[in-house]
Amino acid sequence: MASNTTYEHDVIVVGAGGAGLRAAIAAQEAGADVAIVSKLHPVRSHTGAAEGGINAAIREGDSWEDHAYDTMKGSDYLGDAPAIEALCRESPKETIQLEHWGMAFSREEDGTVSQRPFGGLSFPRTTYAGAETGHQLLHTMYEQVVKRGIEVYDEWHVMNLAVTDEDDPTDRSCHGVVGYEIRSGEIAGFRARDGVILATGGMGQVFDHTTNAVANTGDGVAMAYRAGVPMEDMEFIQFHPTTLPSTGVLISEGVRGEGGILYNGEGERFMFEHGYANNDGELASRDVVARAELTEVNEGRGIEDEYVHLDMRHLGEDRILDRLENILHLAEDFEGVDGLEEPMPVKPGQHYAMGGIETNEYGQTCVDGLYAVGECACASVHGANRLGGNALPELIVFGKLAGRHAAGEEFDEPEIETGKRGDHEDADFDAPVTLGEREPGSDAGPADASAAADGGEAVTDPDAVLEVAVDREIEHVEELLETDGVNHAEIRSAVQETMTANVNVFREEEGLKEALVDLREARDRYADVGVSDPSRTFNTDLLHTLETRNIIDIAEALTMGALARNEFRGAHWRKENQIRDDENWLKHTLISWNDGDPDLWYRPVILEGENKRYEPKVRSY
Ligand code: FUM
Repeated sequence: MASNTTYEHDVIVVGAGGAGLRAAIAAQEAGADVAIVSKLHPVRSHTGAAEGGINAAIREGDSWEDHAYDTMKGSDYLGDAPAIEALCRESPKETIQLEHWGMAFSREEDGTVSQRPFGGLSFPRTTYAGAETGHQLLHTMYEQVVKRGIEVYDEWHVMNLAVTDEDDPTDRSCHGVVGYEIRSGEIAGFRARDGVILATGGMGQVFDHTTNAVANTGDGVAMAYRAGVPMEDMEFIQFHPTTLPSTGVLISEGVRGEGGILYNGEGERFMFEHGYANNDGELASRDVVARAELTEVNEGRGIEDEYVHLDMRHLGEDRILDRLENILHLAEDFEGVDGLEEPMPVKPGQHYAMGGIETNEYGQTCVDGLYAVGECACASVHGANRLGGNALPELIVFGKLAGRHAAGEEFDEPEIETGKRGDHEDADFDAPVTLGEREPGSDAGPADASAAADGGEAVTDPDAVLEVAVDREIEHVEELLETDGVNHAEIRSAVQETMTANVNVFREEEGLKEALVDLREARDRYADVGVSDPSRTFNTDLLHTLETRNIIDIAEALTMGALARNEFRGAHWRKENQIRDDENWLKHTLISWNDGDPDLWYRPVILEGENKRYEPKVRSY
């Protein structure tokens, strides 16, 4: 299982979804020898499940400035203006680039690329490919990766980063990653001469009802967190309003974009009839619709006390087959419902993490040579609520910038520094338990922090850093395989259950504290985790055990942020303070791991854009 092999490239991209592929293409174009290391084969990445589309102001009558305004409003004024403006300015160019690479966008009779309305948009600017936009995007970019001969190490799970261990994380540097090959059980080092780009996607497995794939365990987020990089705005989780009740499978917002209607159990079009969104109805932003659905259910107007109906029958078979065919298959296969004949049952489910690894527009983290892009990153474009159709442009816009930057390209725009705690404000909250790994007077738990050495002399030589990191992971895996301890599945289920019960759409102090107690217990139990399958090949028991550690770290950071933020903003609703409190809370939450001892602090939101300041307004739809 141990290996003397070290693979070496200029740039290592971890993850092969939309962000990873785009970053790899850009780094290769900028002259780097780039490789992708991914837990999944590229076309099995979760980007392939993205249905709805790509927001891009490409039509007459639309403008990137309007897109930026909608995005800032959608974020409930928690997005940073420079990042939002970069996203909206660059999205048209990157969307057209996809078209030039042959992406099969849906088109109008005259051949122009079609666009549809999406929630929270003031213009129908969501470009799409039926209801399988992510699938088309992934295949288009994978073709480019193959064409360019970019090396892909697929079915390699990245376990940790090779990062130096200076006391201050902003002095650290990243020199590679440690990978575990699922097929062979080999553990090897991947040395990155110029940069590591994390593009590991979402963390939906922290919850038990999610649109995310089983592989979305937030690996990159957790690794960066343990390496000392601050996590930003982790409390903001998007619950998509239309997921199938029995599986969490996504029913695209595209259905409502095409005119689909939501009904409660009394047959009322509740978005209008109960005044949740008198102008936009079903096409209010997702946080608004998700709360409305749950309010209907909680007040006894749901169906089977659980869900509401999404009806698209009136759109007619031709239009449905033309634009939403994939939805018919999903409803039939996963819920046994024929969407041409019946309304579909839907309820909110975890869909997206607005927060993640703190980065600037180039994907840079505070650790030199470590980048992050896509859902695992927080460049601060989505703030407290992401608009539907803004995730895919994020992948391609920031993926490209990160790839070029990691490959050494120079940019005129100044780089915003990340990770600088300086004199930023400390959080004030009352944790019911000891957080993180550090229990006074007890052992810190499994030795897998990312910094290379445990105290003592700092390891700073790049090759030595990687060697130490590899040895540490080999030792960790051997230990897991030899321990007949607690099964990861029990711990993972306990985490998912408490998160779904207590850190969901509606949150209150008591429940958030209960979740932290449960997570502490999960962390303590994980100290005794063991792997019952001793095999060295295709050991998914081992893989899931490694992932479960990441789930615990993320769940805890997310819950800490949610407990501390005592206001209602975007997707974060708090029972104790049901108003957006701009006076006290117009600020980002940052959480640093600090060697196993989480530390929470804040920095102000940047509302100053290129030519204007975005003044917070009442957000209504
Ligand atoms: O509803 C959807 O099709 C999802 C789109 C998105 O999350 O951007």
